Amino acid sequence: MNYFNGILVLFVLATLNIVVSEHVCGFESCPKTKSNMINVHLVPHSHDDVGWLKTVDQYYYGSNNNIQHAGVQYILDTVVEELLKDSRRRFIQVETSFFFKWYSEQTVTMKIAVKQLVAEGRLEFAGGAWSMNDEATVHYQSVIDQFNLGLKFLKDTFGTCARPRIGWQIDPFGHSREMASIFAQMGYNGEFFARMDYVEKNTRLKSLAMEMIWRSSEYFKDSEIFTGLLYQHYGSPPGFCFDIHCQDDPIIDGKSYDNNVDKRVDDFIAYVTSMSKSFRANHIMVPMGDDFQYEDAEVNFKNMDKLIKYVNNRQLEGSKINLFYSTPSCYLYELHQLLQSWPNKTEDFFPYSSDNHSYWTGYFTSRPTQKRFERDGNHFLQTVKQLSTLANLTSVKHTKSLSILRQAMGVMQHHDAITGTEKQAVAQDYDQMLYNAIIGAENNARDALRVLTNHTSAEFQTCLELNISVCALTQTSANNIVVTLVNPLAHTSSQYVRVPVTEENYQVTDENGREISSEIVPVPLEILGLQHRSNDTQHELVFKASVKKISNFYIRVLPLPRKKNDLINDQTIPIAENDADEFTLENSLIRLVFTKSTGHLKAVKMNGVSENIHQSFAIYKGFQGNNGISKNRSSGAYVFRPDGEIQVLSDKIEYSIYNGKNVREVHQHVNEWISQVIRIYDGVNRVEFEWLIGPIPTDDGVGKEIVTRFTSNVYSNGTFYTDSNGREMLKRKRNQREFFEPDMTEEISGNYHPVTAQMYIQDDHKRITLLNDRSQGGTSLEDGELELMLHRRLLNDDAFGVGEALNEEQFGKGLIARGKVFLILNAVPENPNCFERLTHHELHLPFCKFFSKTNTVPSIVQHMMPDFNDFPESMELLSLEPYSTNKILLRLENFNSCGGIKSYNMHPLFESLRGRQIWEVTLDGNMPLRQMKRFKFHHDGTGIIPSSVSYFFTPHKPLEANYTMDASKFSVTLLPMQIRTFIVHQ
Ligand SMILES: *[C@@H]1O[C@H](CO)[C@@H](O)[C@H](O)[C@H]1NC(C)=O
Ligand SMILES: *[C@@H]1O[C@H](CO)[C@@H](O)[C@H](O)[C@H]1NC(C)=O
Ligand SMILES: [Zn+2]
Repeated sequence: MNYFNGILVLFVLATLNIVVSEHVCGFESCPKTKSNMINVHLVPHSHDDVGWLKTVDQYYYGSNNNIQHAGVQYILDTVVEELLKDSRRRFIQVETSFFFKWYSEQTVTMKIAVKQLVAEGRLEFAGGAWSMNDEATVHYQSVIDQFNLGLKFLKDTFGTCARPRIGWQIDPFGHSREMASIFAQMGYNGEFFARMDYVEKNTRLKSLAMEMIWRSSEYFKDSEIFTGLLYQHYGSPPGFCFDIHCQDDPIIDGKSYDNNVDKRVDDFIAYVTSMSKSFRANHIMVPMGDDFQYEDAEVNFKNMDKLIKYVNNRQLEGSKINLFYSTPSCYLYELHQLLQSWPNKTEDFFPYSSDNHSYWTGYFTSRPTQKRFERDGNHFLQTVKQLSTLANLTSVKHTKSLSILRQAMGVMQHHDAITGTEKQAVAQDYDQMLYNAIIGAENNARDALRVLTNHTSAEFQTCLELNISVCALTQTSANNIVVTLVNPLAHTSSQYVRVPVTEENYQVTDENGREISSEIVPVPLEILGLQHRSNDTQHELVFKASVKKISNFYIRVLPLPRKKNDLINDQTIPIAENDADEFTLENSLIRLVFTKSTGHLKAVKMNGVSENIHQSFAIYKGFQGNNGISKNRSSGAYVFRPDGEIQVLSDKIEYSIYNGKNVREVHQHVNEWISQVIRIYDGVNRVEFEWLIGPIPTDDGVGKEIVTRFTSNVYSNGTFYTDSNGREMLKRKRNQREFFEPDMTEEISGNYHPVTAQMYIQDDHKRITLLNDRSQGGTSLEDGELELMLHRRLLNDDAFGVGEALNEEQFGKGLIARGKVFLILNAVPENPNCFERLTHHELHLPFCKFFSKTNTVPSIVQHMMPDFNDFPESMELLSLEPYSTNKILLRLENFNSCGGIKSYNMHPLFESLRGRQIWEVTLDGNMPLRQMKRFKFHHDGTGIIPSSVSYFFTPHKPLEANYTMDASKFSVTLLPMQIRTFIVHQ
């Protein structure tokens, strides 16, 4: 069959006889429907995971089919061929990463044919981001980036017709409100998905509430977006899987004893009739496809053609079922036309449970080191994008390596990547991909820094192992080392910087040769004890740096060695002790009280309040079922299912105290495989808990999940708050949900929620907030308590497809993970949750460190450095990046809900970016905001019957200006929590 492909395409092109420019773009290309019938929109689609059981490339090329039969290149080959055969056929393409790769391999003729299909709405892009991102564990900055990437490729290749209009999040394991908000801000008309708590879904089926209006932001009324839940997961109706992967019979319509037309048509009509009873409109959407289907698309389309023909033939006998090929955006278009009203939705769809023992809350934490590495990738990507913009790096080589890092980060957002629900071999492939991308983009950072600092020969190396105090450049000596710090934030920031060093007497100076106060602190013994760690650097040099955008600090060794005694257990500042069984760690802002005899933290005082806060680690045993399903379900990569009571490690722990000038630490040795450093820095208003966990022992034959737990007397009344993808906070009530009564058979995991950035509890006087450095699951099972899951190692598969136990190993032993949790105790109601969010920004994008061995300190080329310090307080630079040659993308965010409306004049920034023109675009950066027009739907319960369709337009007048205009035209205002995106044309 493949032999004829080329001939066929040419033939079809010749007979099309239309030029690409005369296309019907938009809803005019939607199929005609019949208002007196049930209109069934058949939506052909293939769900193509960007890595899961196989790697991205194995899925694309169709290798390793013994693991899973799947080859995306053939899917696209045959789908396009089938679409070209008949103009009624439709298909939606979702994952742009796969499509990008396929398209780049096509001939000119084929590309023209595909453009035609897109222009006519026959091949429609849905979702359209680089991957179908997860919604629990992703940070909004990275989601926006990966939509920017996918939609930009579609726009650059196919023009505005290709722009997706609906979100297609069919597989992610629960749904966040921030994701809905991002769709709204990109101008999408709605989103569809397939997974929802099974109790909620049953309730919605019964109460005609499968489709709703989601208010996706607490702050913006314009954030409403239509949200639809698919009827039966995202596969074809039972019995109607016409795919080479399926066993269902084809439609047999010839003269044959096997002719099954009547039976198949009866069955299909019965299915859609019963389905339509759960939906409000006389339109229903039936997905046709599943994971990696359409590899031989002729089979699918041939049978769907027949199904459509024979189902519609029944109309002659009075059937009221009208069947046709369609797309989700055409389906939604019809719903919008109906002027019907829909139920409200305001919270999110977490946690997701698929039966009464299966809460999908384990993946919030699964693969903790990969989840952290993804954040490192984002940190580096944001830094490199800014540096590339400032240094005007536009060469092909630089553009390419930046693209590769962007693409790698797009892949990492996939719902089987950052979630940790992929096979081990695939996880390694992701790590390798991201690592290579970072290494490639390091060249960009180095070249940019050479331009921006006038130091054309400095190395500007990054060190990826600073978390275990290892850096190649300082390994043997940190003498004559320049540390170049890049601050990705807009405002000048002061942060403590740590550099791995050998034990010497150091001096740190700034660019002007002024000495900066510094000290050296020992690396914890448990880190020194790590296998395969070279133990040259047993200390860290710590100094406080204040950085506008880029600053250099110079380290050298002074001849006089310090006395050893000064370094460790520095007694110059005595540890406060009293008669009681306690000791304290204290600085000008914070006082920590520990129990002397046990080594545990017991009280915190800061921000004018004190509270008895006790911290400990605790262990859940993972449930190990014998056959995987329902009540035998094991705890696994997706599901968290603890077996029995939690074991709290409250016994006496060994500890040592380091009381330096600016940094104070308690090193706790909890057990053979758990240790922690509790740390405070002078002038920093938070407490740091740096944990080290692993290898989690399993020699007792039991998998384990490790949490850190903070208890207090804060009267939190069953309530706690968790962030949505790092942005707005959501209120969680223990054992409760919006809209339905949850099944709490699993009362622990059923109260777990995703914590991407922070969680807190509060009462009338105090608030305790935890901030984390990667996504984790968290909860508050008792009043006053906060719990975060840090690491998991399990011995059984949870039978949701991955087919492996989540048993990560490194160097032949259980994986060791390290990370930080930060605590802030604050006074309520004087201080709203704003300082905490500011802290999140600093932790999310700290200084990026570059190391060079040189004795000439680079000097910053000031005129290349725009000043962002005139940004109003609480306004942040969310993005500054090359968009295309001579175009820069700029995103401003008023990141605090309590900072009020912020005004800012962009003219000076515009000038320093050498702008000639500026216009405002949708959140993804690819559509002029002026063109924003998206469906507005009508609410239940308003008592008003609408008389015409309505839309949301741009919520404010978009900024559009050029260099000839008066500076006053460049003024923008940002409401609390608002993000505005601009393109600057140079
Ligand atoms: C940036 O670099 C490109 C290529 O070297 C050059 O053509 C362009 O003028 C530069 N742009 C600015 C604004 O300096
Ligand atoms: C749904 O929300 C809208 C807008 O906030 C409101 O006017 C309406 O009364 C709500 N409907 C119900 C049934 O609560
Ligand atoms: Zn999937």
